[in-house]
Amino acid sequence: MSETRIVQVADDEMKNAVSEACALLRAGEIVALPTETVYGLGADALNPEAVAKVFAAKERPSFDPLIVHIASRGDLKNVAIVPDDIAETVNKLTAAFWPGPLTIILPKHPDVPDLVTSGLPTVAVRQSAHPVFRAIGKELGRPIAAPSANRFGRISPTSASAVMKELGGRIPLIVDAGACSEGVESTIISIEPRKGKKPIFRLHRAGPITKEQLQDFGRVEKVREIKCDAPQAPGQLESHYAPLTPLILLEKPEDFVPEEGKKYGLLSYTGDDDSPYVTMHDWETIESLSPGSGKLAEAAIRLFFVMRLLDEAGLDAIMAEPVSETGLGVAIMDRLRRASINFK
Ligand code: TXA
Ligand code: MG
Repeated sequence: MSETRIVQVADDEMKNAVSEACALLRAGEIVALPTETVYGLGADALNPEAVAKVFAAKERPSFDPLIVHIASRGDLKNVAIVPDDIAETVNKLTAAFWPGPLTIILPKHPDVPDLVTSGLPTVAVRQSAHPVFRAIGKELGRPIAAPSANRFGRISPTSASAVMKELGGRIPLIVDAGACSEGVESTIISIEPRKGKKPIFRLHRAGPITKEQLQDFGRVEKVREIKCDAPQAPGQLESHYAPLTPLILLEKPEDFVPEEGKKYGLLSYTGDDDSPYVTMHDWETIESLSPGSGKLAEAAIRLFFVMRLLDEAGLDAIMAEPVSETGLGVAIMDRLRRASINFK
């Protein structure tokens, strides 16, 4: 592959982009597509050769399974087999959160190739809310396997230009629909039924659908992190979402001990002077997640964009200020920890 084209989705006209993307997907090609969370690298989920190209372009190890995106709730039965004891819960969750950034791990349908699920008996499924992604899924009439459109372990892309930096020259097409509206990847859960009680939701990855939102339907418990080469949900791999410049997540301002002559940048929450992180050092550069206002939703949208800016600023290291771990802050801190070289 030598050239990657970008096709822009005009405000009132997405037909061309949709049919171009579908033609490539039907031909077993891979295409970068916008979703509400991050840009995905899509392939026909039922075509193992196409799926293999996703792993190759991303340099993704084959033990890391992909999320399957369906066009409508009714398509769930084509990719997963929902056990009777969780059927009601799945109904309630999908009615409440689909289309949207919630991925549910379910027993896989035999039609889904083993390559998609890395040989696991389960498949991760979601229905994207992005109008362009939805239109492509509908016209294609087949499920789309799509991981984030970055090279393995690197920062997820939230714009077409970020995809170009990650995968330019490796894929034929990027469908550009502007910036993603959520900014961090979907929440991933599996469901454990309990007799006479609300089910347990195992949180495999924190995301835009928060623990607080899920609690109406069941008890949310974190998946225990297992440190091994092929973890149960490799989104939990220790180093992930990482810039090339070392990033250190600070717990408190005193943790920062600058070395003489080194250039440091700050990834701040608001960038305001009343933050001790902002004032404690003469920073080479400061980038803020939610400039001035301190809104977690804005911080999530800007997180990967700001990480890229700082990564390209020629720094020796990036210091990150923590955000409060409530609501969306849980997903933001999760990504910062995994991007950080001091992640434990
Ligand atoms: O928001 C999103 O989820 C984006 C957009 C493109 O939809 N996709 C995304 O895909 O973040 P990816 O591949 O970067 O992350 C998928 C995560 C991985 O950590 C993978 O290990 C986990 O989902 N996963 C997939 N199938 C699984 C399964 N059967 N069991 C456990 N974890 C699974
Ligand atoms: Mg990813």
